[in-house]
Amino acid sequence: MCGIVGYIGNQNSQGILVEGLKKLEYRGYDSAGIAVFTQEGLQVVKAKGRLANLESKLEEHPLAGSAGIGHTRWATHGKPSDANSHPHTDNSQKFSVVHNGIVENYLELKEELMAGGAHFTSETDTEVISHLIAREYEGDIVKAVQKAITYMRGAFALGVLTEYEPDKLVAVRQASPLIIGIGEGENFIGSDIPALLKYTRNVYILNDGEMAVLTRDAVELMTIEGNFIAREMITVDWDAVTAEKAGYEHFMLKEIHEQPRAYRDTMLGRVNAEGNKVILPELSLTEEQIKNIRNIQIVACGTAYHAGLVGRTMIESLVRIPVENDVASEYRYRSPIVSPETLVIVVSQSGETADTLAALREAQANGAHVLAITNVVGSSIAREANDVLVTLAGPEIAVASTKAYTSQLIALALFSLYLAEVRGTQTAEQVAHILAAMQALPEQVETILAQKDAIKTYAEQISDNKHLFFIGRGVDYAVATEGSLKLKEISYIHSEAYAAGELKHGTLALIEDGIPVIALATQEAVLEKTVSNIKEVKARGAEVLAITHEEHVTDLLKSVDQAFVIPKTLPLLTPTLSVVTLQLLAYYTSLALGHDVDKPRNLAKSVTVE
Ligand code: F6R
Repeated sequence: MCGIVGYIGNQNSQGILVEGLKKLEYRGYDSAGIAVFTQEGLQVVKAKGRLANLESKLEEHPLAGSAGIGHTRWATHGKPSDANSHPHTDNSQKFSVVHNGIVENYLELKEELMAGGAHFTSETDTEVISHLIAREYEGDIVKAVQKAITYMRGAFALGVLTEYEPDKLVAVRQASPLIIGIGEGENFIGSDIPALLKYTRNVYILNDGEMAVLTRDAVELMTIEGNFIAREMITVDWDAVTAEKAGYEHFMLKEIHEQPRAYRDTMLGRVNAEGNKVILPELSLTEEQIKNIRNIQIVACGTAYHAGLVGRTMIESLVRIPVENDVASEYRYRSPIVSPETLVIVVSQSGETADTLAALREAQANGAHVLAITNVVGSSIAREANDVLVTLAGPEIAVASTKAYTSQLIALALFSLYLAEVRGTQTAEQVAHILAAMQALPEQVETILAQKDAIKTYAEQISDNKHLFFIGRGVDYAVATEGSLKLKEISYIHSEAYAAGELKHGTLALIEDGIPVIALATQEAVLEKTVSNIKEVKARGAEVLAITHEEHVTDLLKSVDQAFVIPKTLPLLTPTLSVVTLQLLAYYTSLALGHDVDKPRNLAKSVTVE
């Protein structure tokens, strides 16, 4: 899970490569490097650690030349170190490679190459690729790359340069994302759109098993077998500003504030003019198929999985179809029971999560129709699913997902209503009622954002705790799981989310004086029960914060220490509001502790390995 950039043109490439890498740091950031054709030949500079380390090295040893490749790494094979950073070269130093993904059979290949005289300088799987290409080179870099990849198993996106053909940059995509940017007298490669946005909006998205040969004035696309292909160029309408911090201290805070817009955009064009019907023309699912659905499985990882938990309640209560939630990494190995009447919904912000993609393939292999809910058009998951419902959250840069999660909730609500319409489980009036409540959500989010100072003060109070609990019932419990993950991943405080009624079956033993418990208490139907559970922890010394509606605050304050209010909406939609309080809480706790909010330790934005 790394970031690749490449440039061939008439400008000095160093700045362009470093700029592109900055935009890709969310894909990995334990080391970085670039290779550039200079007057002295192909030269490489790389450095362990954040990109700033590479920049300092480049200040001392600038690389001048108008073609190059760059890489930002998230270690899979071999620890983060200068030697393990990309680009990797062969022993002649004439070939240079950047790679994202994993070469599964690299040990086998390494042995073979070493037996042939290759000398390895890193612990990476990538280095075998540069040696392989060098071995196969007979005067044509494209053929050498094609030959080399016939030996490789696994997932890879590659950028390749050779000093023998300095006017060519070769790119390959096999199960790892790669796009080609088209400029005037210059062309680019990148793992993701933000890397290229500053320079071009015109891109080709490579499919698995395809490659591109870039020169300054042209791009040739072909299969890895060498058959030329035609592809429509896509014009990306994200502006560069959308991918920047827009004045916020961190991407995460910016993205939390972008949620009202993300809700609106995700609903845009999907509700009829009368406001009583969801229209999803992008779906190929027929009415007959929808009527025949017998069960639904929602499969995802991490935050997207948590969105699926809310989706389950939405679908079950509005459509009465049984829904199971599965963590994608478990799904493919548990022999899921799937039939042609099973609808599998995969949820993924990036659309590139390896486990989710594998689950999608498993479901399809068993005959299920797969609907993907994703934020990235053209991603692997979007391309392989039978149907795609795009969330319009815009690029999410912070590792901790916020606006993508809430946009997934909006998409799941829209889809539930769509199913309900087709199956006749909700009347047009009921649908209109829910849609009206959804249209009000963006403004309601603003009122939560306006409470950020109070949330910050509370965050500062809890930031020196070692343990913390989130509790709730129904969708409040689903939101608790997300609130807990958010806090853990960026503040490094241990927290657990518990169904409020489940604590007394063991975990209550952990409650002691002063331990913070955050109780989500928005679900009227179970409010009394939640209050009983709050009293159970209060009696054991917990400091309880409640998140609730205005009308319950006075009563709740008899049992809790503090409360935050969220605006009133329908019970099923409360997660889209209550989670915003928890996102801000995690953000300010991380900030109070001085952590790197946007790039928490040990994590990366897009998890393209199993
Ligand atoms: C946490 C977070 C992760 C992702 C998970 C799945 O804030 O972002 O838990 O949700 O890695 O990623 P996607 O949604 O890209 O499949």
